[in-house]
Amino acid sequence: MSPTDAAPFDPKALRAAFGSFATGVTVVTTYDKSGSAVGFTANSFTSVSLDPALLLVCLGKTSSNYETFTSADRFGVNILSSDQTDISTRFATRGLKDRFAGIDWQAVPDGAPLIEGCAARFDCTVHECIDAGDHVILMGRIERFDSHERHPLIFAEGRYLAPIDLDTPQVRGSVRLGAIITHDEEILLRSDGKGNWHLPLSGAKPGLRSARADLDGFFAAGGAAIDWGFLFAIFDGDSDAVPGNADTLAFFHGALEAGEELPSQCRLFPMDELPMEDVPISAHRAMLRRYVDEHRQQRFGIYVDSPGPRGTVQPLALRPAPYARNIQDKEIMQ
Ligand SMILES: Cc1cc2nc3c(=O)[nH]c(=O)nc-3n(C[C@H](O)[C@H](O)[C@H](O)COP(=O)(O)O)c2cc1C
Repeated sequence: MSPTDAAPFDPKALRAAFGSFATGVTVVTTYDKSGSAVGFTANSFTSVSLDPALLLVCLGKTSSNYETFTSADRFGVNILSSDQTDISTRFATRGLKDRFAGIDWQAVPDGAPLIEGCAARFDCTVHECIDAGDHVILMGRIERFDSHERHPLIFAEGRYLAPIDLDTPQVRGSVRLGAIITHDEEILLRSDGKGNWHLPLSGAKPGLRSARADLDGFFAAGGAAIDWGFLFAIFDGDSDAVPGNADTLAFFHGALEAGEELPSQCRLFPMDELPMEDVPISAHRAMLRRYVDEHRQQRFGIYVDSPGPRGTVQPLALRPAPYARNIQDKEIMQ
């Protein structure tokens, strides 16, 4: 980047650059002078302060709502859930007489209009209204809020994204968690005591979180701890390729934490010396091959089983990060 690149900016290019920052989506609401509920879609929401509890949203000065919001003394911020894209679209549509028509919302005494079905809602008094270029920053002091166990809607690069949610539609019924566990350039395999090697697999559990706890328990009993990583492959339990006695099989990457011991059935094999001929399950062999290949290239994908002879490997946009540092932990592991 050179200074000559800096100005003047092409607004489209600047908007696209801003759009590479993934956000949630909110609907900001208040009442107009006639007492009608009004609102607009905004992804410029930012949490500002815990004490005092402050948040902000930016409102464009050309918005038909500009006067209403800059003269209001209260506003609400409704954080949309992943199934509320239609509400987001509705509250961003110009010329709609009543954006609240047909929407399930709540009139709170002395509060702003709050939309039902959101991931979280904040009812604010105006703390400060700050002029900021072609926008105004509405800083709200949170008077009350609620939050619900719903996945948030995500907006990035001009489109809506749903968080990876393994409860639906991929994860259904009972789940077994498989693991590709690595340490330096080695992969951990588990012996069945008959000369065969397998990827470690949990028992069948009602959800991914309990399946992970099951595998964690197995490793902890052997003196080891796993730093869980990214989803590597997910199979329908009916798949012939992976006998599993569960409705869903999900394989995650995990890193063996340094200095740990291993359960007696487990061994680490250098990636180029894997005992492939003694790995009887073809899907395990395929995953091991793919892992070694992707590890060399540092480009990982997720294998998603689908009806028909083969599933697909969906590339990950980013280099995988361990769970502890991955915001999707909450989404995936439940
Ligand atoms: C995902 C999304 C995010 C938006 N974020 C903002 C925002 O942060 N601030 C804003 O002023 N407008 C934002 N808009 C645009 C307004 O929602 C939209 O321009 C406005 O509601 C149009 O009608 P109006 O001019 O009558 O307000 C966003 C639109 C979408 C679809």
